[in-house]
Amino acid sequence: MLGAIVYFSGTGNTEFAAKLFKNKFAEKGIECSLIDISKKRNLNNNYDFYIFGAPIYADTFPDYFKDWVKNKVNDGQGKKCIVFSTQAENDSSGPGELTQILEEKGFVILIQDFIVMPNNYYMAGFNKANEDKVTRLKELAIEEINLLVEKFLQGEKYIKRISEVTQIKGELLDKKFYKPEKSWAQSSLSIDYDLCVKCGKCAKNCPTGNISMKEEITFKDKCISCQKCVHRCPVNAFLYNGKPIDQYKI
Ligand SMILES: Cc1cc2nc3c(=O)[nH]c(=O)nc-3n(C[C@H](O)[C@H](O)[C@H](O)COP(=O)(O)O)c2cc1C
Repeated sequence: MLGAIVYFSGTGNTEFAAKLFKNKFAEKGIECSLIDISKKRNLNNNYDFYIFGAPIYADTFPDYFKDWVKNKVNDGQGKKCIVFSTQAENDSSGPGELTQILEEKGFVILIQDFIVMPNNYYMAGFNKANEDKVTRLKELAIEEINLLVEKFLQGEKYIKRISEVTQIKGELLDKKFYKPEKSWAQSSLSIDYDLCVKCGKCAKNCPTGNISMKEEITFKDKCISCQKCVHRCPVNAFLYNGKPIDQYKI
């Protein structure tokens, strides 16, 4: 039996969760391939089961992830799936929306859940979680994922309920708040050239090719606010509204 763990991760939380799924299945003698959608053009249907996961932005999954699944994933052929998000809060409309997309493709969703992880979006006013909270959330994520894998292997259906209010809030936030954020990098980020070593990692890692590296580093208008450039810069050279950034590391 071979599973595919298909994920997107900006700052590492979802990758952390994806690896927990991989390790737990491995413990049960089942191999899974980790498939980072920012590095992969499409998905074949040779796998026996699938796990899909991404972070929540403005109460739902980013279009970048949803569009990849819509366009690159073939007929589900009745294969079983786990759908999960990582997010800072206790509710979101993302997993429900993805379940719908995958069911329309012929997948069977056995598990739909969200994993609460530290908030990586604290530059804009939210608090950064302290070390104790990060440790606690990581422990809870391990417990939750172990439980989900057990349920999946026993064929037990588990769908985390999403309230109607959350569903509506997600749709509104997606339209009114998240869409204009495509210019987030242009409007908020700049570079400290005393620190920047022009390694090009930010441009190479950007999932939408939004960063140009010439004499200066510039941004286009297709940012998805994933924060990969900011938090994975090896010399922390990014500035947010002109100020240094306390980088997020999981
Ligand atoms: C632009 C942006 C918007 C976010 N909006 C939400 C949100 O609406 N609800 C929530 O619970 N978490 C929100 N978060 C927090 C992330 O979903 C969370 O930290 C996630 O685990 C990050 O995953 P990653 O490290 O794999 O990118 C947001 C993060 C970003 C960058």
